[in-house]
Amino acid sequence: MVEGLATRGWVCLDGFLDEAAARSLAEESLHAWEDGDFRRAGVGRGAERVIREDVRRDHVLWLGDETTGPAAKQYLARLEALRQEINRACFLGLFDFEGHFAVYPPGAFYKAHLDRHRGTADRVVTAILYLNDGWQPGDGGRLRIWTEPGRQDGPCEWIEPRLGTLVVFLAGDYWHEVEEARKTRMSVTGWFRTRGL
Ligand code: OGA
Ligand code: MN
Repeated sequence: MVEGLATRGWVCLDGFLDEAAARSLAEESLHAWEDGDFRRAGVGRGAERVIREDVRRDHVLWLGDETTGPAAKQYLARLEALRQEINRACFLGLFDFEGHFAVYPPGAFYKAHLDRHRGTADRVVTAILYLNDGWQPGDGGRLRIWTEPGRQDGPCEWIEPRLGTLVVFLAGDYWHEVEEARKTRMSVTGWFRTRGL
């Protein structure tokens, strides 16, 4: 995985999390969703953050102390190990991770974008883990990633958001979008960050 990131800039790995761990994480997300703990995802950061239904329709719950159950804590520990491996192999100077659960209800999508806020460079590596047991072709909600850095045309890959699959890529380099989901689609999305470049 780390080698793929170092040599190619993006990588997709099925079964990054075993089924039991991924299911526990899915349950934590579902409980929080049913408790109404999520809010609509915005576009932009801080004071510039706005809701743009034409751009994205997912709902998010940031991982923080109160909202983080045991399964999420374990996953964060896995990511911490991954962060150290990436730093050893790629010298990216990643110092932490910020992430959230995401839910795409039926009909939700996220239009093509890069994961870096305008005028910032702190989000260096994106990591997305999917939590959907029994996801079928035809359920929509695939991640589409254009595989040539900086280009929103040319070759692309379609990734099914299946339970335990992890996708990692350089946040500022790879255009990507989420096609409309036909079933409720759950994931944990986050970013390894550097201290402002
Ligand atoms: C994001 C994003 C993709 C996905 O949250 O920035 O691009 O497959 N998510 O959930
Ligand atoms: Mn994104």
